[in-house]
Amino acid sequence: MKSANYQFSYIVYDSISELEPPDAWLLNEARDVSQYAYAPYSNFLVGAVAKLANGEIVAGSNQENASYPAGICAERVLLSTAASMYPGIPIDTIAISYQQANGPSDHPVAPCGICRQSLQEFEGRVNQPIRLILAGMEGKVFVIEKASSLLPLAFTQEELL
Ligand code: THU
Repeated sequence: MKSANYQFSYIVYDSISELEPPDAWLLNEARDVSQYAYAPYSNFLVGAVAKLANGEIVAGSNQENASYPAGICAERVLLSTAASMYPGIPIDTIAISYQQANGPSDHPVAPCGICRQSLQEFEGRVNQPIRLILAGMEGKVFVIEKASSLLPLAFTQEELL
């Protein structure tokens, strides 16, 4: 018997002003795109903007539905759009931000569990890690070099023969 250990490191910046200009630009785009979310039920508006390996920019925002489970997160809107518009092209970086009608947006929020699963699948499809930049409208910024590091012991396509 032995114990196993999973270690995960990420970078914490005090604010967007510490980022390199291309990263700051992408985060500002994600902040901006959050206004296009359709989130009348949660009032939690998420914006995600990706820079692809071919230089193209793709956006996503959460789109809710009166039938709640039909709603889809910003990250999965973005991944579906990227795969449909630019098939086979890796994603270098995704910036994710959010705003709330009646709440603060002063700290980074990480992707939900289903989105983590979708992010790791996308990485596997194109064989390239996705870098994440996470932040609210203000405050600290997290940078994670590989989205799938948020999903240890993931179930992957490797299991399906
Ligand atoms: N949401 C996202 O779009 N991305 C996440 O990573 C977390 C949650 C959305 C789903 C739902 O529309 C709202 O935020 C509240 O959960």
